[in-house]
Amino acid sequence: MKTFQVRGVSLATVDRGKGRPVLLVHAFPLDHSMWDAQIAALAQRHRVIAPDLRGFGRSEVTDGTVTMEQFADDLAGLLDEMGVAEPIVYCGVSMGGYIGWQFYRKHAPRLRGMILCDTRAIADTPEVRASRKEMIDRVLADGPEPIAQTMIPKLLSAPTIASHPETVAGVHRMVLANDRRGIAAAIRGMRDRPDCTPLLAEIHCPCLVVVGKLDAISTLEEMRSIAAKIPEAKLVTIAGAGHLTPVEQPAQTTAALEAFLARL
Ligand code: MLT
Repeated sequence: MKTFQVRGVSLATVDRGKGRPVLLVHAFPLDHSMWDAQIAALAQRHRVIAPDLRGFGRSEVTDGTVTMEQFADDLAGLLDEMGVAEPIVYCGVSMGGYIGWQFYRKHAPRLRGMILCDTRAIADTPEVRASRKEMIDRVLADGPEPIAQTMIPKLLSAPTIASHPETVAGVHRMVLANDRRGIAAAIRGMRDRPDCTPLLAEIHCPCLVVVGKLDAISTLEEMRSIAAKIPEAKLVTIAGAGHLTPVEQPAQTTAALEAFLARL
């Protein structure tokens, strides 16, 4: 990985391959390696940039709250530091999608297209906000293990959990490797994120919306409604996947991404 100083923090990123740039933005509470299969495949034709977001993986941790807008500004700053001036395709999963809405809002001229996987446009409900508070207290007191225990059954589908222990172990490792303060800062940012539903009709670039048919967090129905509101969006459903489509069904997900990128 390469490291860049961006807006006062050190951000680590994969930068592999040559061609039109594709930015892969990971989910919470993971790191860039959730994209390993896509990095290997897409780098054959594209320049693939897959950072660890602030507070995750090998990137620097900052305390307090990191808003979705701050993450988006970090990514724009990273592209500047890397000298990437041409338009990119932004591809984010879940929290990576929440950040994607803010990236569009603030940095739309930098975009050739967007891929939104297993994400939500609405803000947190009062119930979810209350559960975020419990998660913050828990992670600061006991570290990432309880977060892994709570989240893995929601992130991965039941078939993946039953039949792919190596996938479960890989996700578990990623969660445990993260710093408790970085996790807490991102939870606060997700808790405080705005409702982006009104933005969807304003997104005027080619968009691919990807959802695992078994996604328990951002359901098929919710993702269908997101795709219906974005003028140039196409929806692809991934069989046998829950919330982490790129990890659970890497071949199907990569094929969907490649087909979209080839049409741009
Ligand atoms: C994610 O996968 O990024 C998280 O599930 C998002 C969330 O907790 O809202």
